Amino acid sequence: MNILHMDLGADSYDIVIERGALQKAGEYLDLDRKVLVLTDDGVPEAYAQTVAVQAKDGFVMTVPQGEDSKSIPRFSTILSEMLKRGFSRKDAVVAVGGGVVGDLAGFAASAYMRGIDFYNIPTTVLSQVDSSIGGKTAVNLDGVKNIVGAFYQPKKVLVDLDLLDTLDERLIAEGLAEALKMGLTSDKELFELFEKGNITASMDEIITRSLMIKKNVVEQDEKEQGLRKILNFGHTIGHGIESCGGLYHGECVAVGMIPMVSDELRPRLIGILENLRLPTVVHAAPEKIFEAMTHDKKSVGGRVTVVTVPEPGQFEMKEFSFEELYPLIQMIIK
Ligand code: GLY
Repeated sequence: MNILHMDLGADSYDIVIERGALQKAGEYLDLDRKVLVLTDDGVPEAYAQTVAVQAKDGFVMTVPQGEDSKSIPRFSTILSEMLKRGFSRKDAVVAVGGGVVGDLAGFAASAYMRGIDFYNIPTTVLSQVDSSIGGKTAVNLDGVKNIVGAFYQPKKVLVDLDLLDTLDERLIAEGLAEALKMGLTSDKELFELFEKGNITASMDEIITRSLMIKKNVVEQDEKEQGLRKILNFGHTIGHGIESCGGLYHGECVAVGMIPMVSDELRPRLIGILENLRLPTVVHAAPEKIFEAMTHDKKSVGGRVTVVTVPEPGQFEMKEFSFEELYPLIQMIIK
């Protein structure tokens, strides 16, 4: 067992990394109250039930798997259910799922009675290394991702690597793309673990190292005024690719990182992506990706802060106009 402490003053919390933690959720979390356990229909039913039965008054709510669940109507349904069941400010919400479930559950917890306790038990690699910590919660609106939300920190996060056993290879690989992202910007040794290639044997270390990077970044810049932008490495073009459909988020980030590394580093990155069976090109019209990118909420006045990586473990932040990004998109189009 490993506990990382996220130091955010009054909003501090522990991240417990332990195989089997789900079974002991009641020991780590205060479940002695009304508890809504939010999950989706792609997560094994037993995971959410395991938490609900440990609560004094727990129930499971299941949303459809996928990004479409991050909507205002779904958010509203969750709040209505809490209201119907008489949830008070002393009750709690637990997310048991990936990034979609975490974002939706966290946002519902942040809004209900101006904020009730929220716990996160991430069940995908992507959510274990990245989205479950740091307090970003949101839903999408009018086709724009994460445009309505709140920074709302969980009270605790349980990272149980045994929960990854039910994931298929593609889902594992897309989550590893986010871990690789952190190695590229901030941890040469993590990047080199990927280069050595024995990912299964290194899984615990990959997840722990990624969480340590994320924790350090969030502690320094919770509200994304500066440093936290490095977690968006690969995401500017990645979000544009994602809007075209067909690829998972982490797959889009994987391709989106390729133009943003130095010419020397690019073949090494592509080698790792190929080893992970992640895409290295996309089959889409560059104009479509470009158009989707201009909707990115992180852009200001037609310019966007983009992170580039000259060598593993180092990063630079640069202002690009969208026009300057267009030739970079062409680099990854087949
Ligand atoms: N996943 C990016 C962030 O938490 O800032």
